[in-house]
Amino acid sequence: MSDARFVLAGVMGWPVAHSRSPVIHNHWIAQYGLRGTYVQLPVQPERLEDAIRGLKALGFAGCNVTVPHKVRAMEMMDELHPVARRMAAINTIVVREDGSLYGMNNDGAGWIQSLRDADPTWRADAGPALVLGAGGASRAIVVALLEEGAPEVRLTNRTRDKAEALAQEFGPKVKVIDWKDRNAAMAGMSLLVNATTQGMHGQPALEVSLDDLPKTAMVSDAIYIPLETPLLAAARQRGHRTVNGLGMLLNQARPAFQAWTGVMPEITPALRAAIQATF
Ligand code: ATR
Repeated sequence: MSDARFVLAGVMGWPVAHSRSPVIHNHWIAQYGLRGTYVQLPVQPERLEDAIRGLKALGFAGCNVTVPHKVRAMEMMDELHPVARRMAAINTIVVREDGSLYGMNNDGAGWIQSLRDADPTWRADAGPALVLGAGGASRAIVVALLEEGAPEVRLTNRTRDKAEALAQEFGPKVKVIDWKDRNAAMAGMSLLVNATTQGMHGQPALEVSLDDLPKTAMVSDAIYIPLETPLLAAARQRGHRTVNGLGMLLNQARPAFQAWTGVMPEITPALRAAIQATF
């Protein structure tokens, strides 16, 4: 047996059974000939602190963090990547050699990359974007859009106060639109993003009309279960370029895997096929 380190990682959430992250990381562990495994870590909110403390003792290289732990887990880190601090949430923990915990958030960069994968000519600074939702996914997307130079981000949320709070935090390029005005706000947009949970498996479809959205606009949904939400189906039928949430999931996983193993992995057709097979 080789004496190479056994890489142990996982995804901490509640629930986590639906997560495709184990498929992705175990595929890469095998592809790159590493010794290790990536496991589900179902952790109840009241056990989060104990679980995070346990990572070091159990020999974990780190883990991903998902709903509902992204914000509280951030508060337990010894050091944060500046982007994670801006997003006020983490999606990845790295256990460093000295046992200290480093928090990263790769969701925003992963999401941007998924748009570029769909259209290499896509640029955030090409025009304004309308983002639906003001929860965790929305925060990552809004920060990423601003960092990439989006001239304006229109933000609309069922609970207006949450959108107002993000606009306060991220400055005047973020303009809050009332939820009831979301359809009219699509006029002139280069990009429409669903960052609500509406359209997710088990949830009703998002209630929107795309009539005012320019045909040139790209439509992105952060959801990946199902791969084609009712929003994306409607957008595809109107001839828009569409991007589902799987690319965000795959692209955010790459820097996490690198941080734990030292290998920057590739997203191959075989990996996509392995994920497709789970749907
Ligand atoms: P995530 O981490 O996936 O972003 P979240 O932080 O729970 O999850 O955010 C869920 C988002 O979906 C919020 O913007 C939420 O709106 P509220 O802030 O008003 O709760 C939105 N959402 C959930 N159910 C919704 C519904 N029925 N109609 C419109 N928006 C909804």
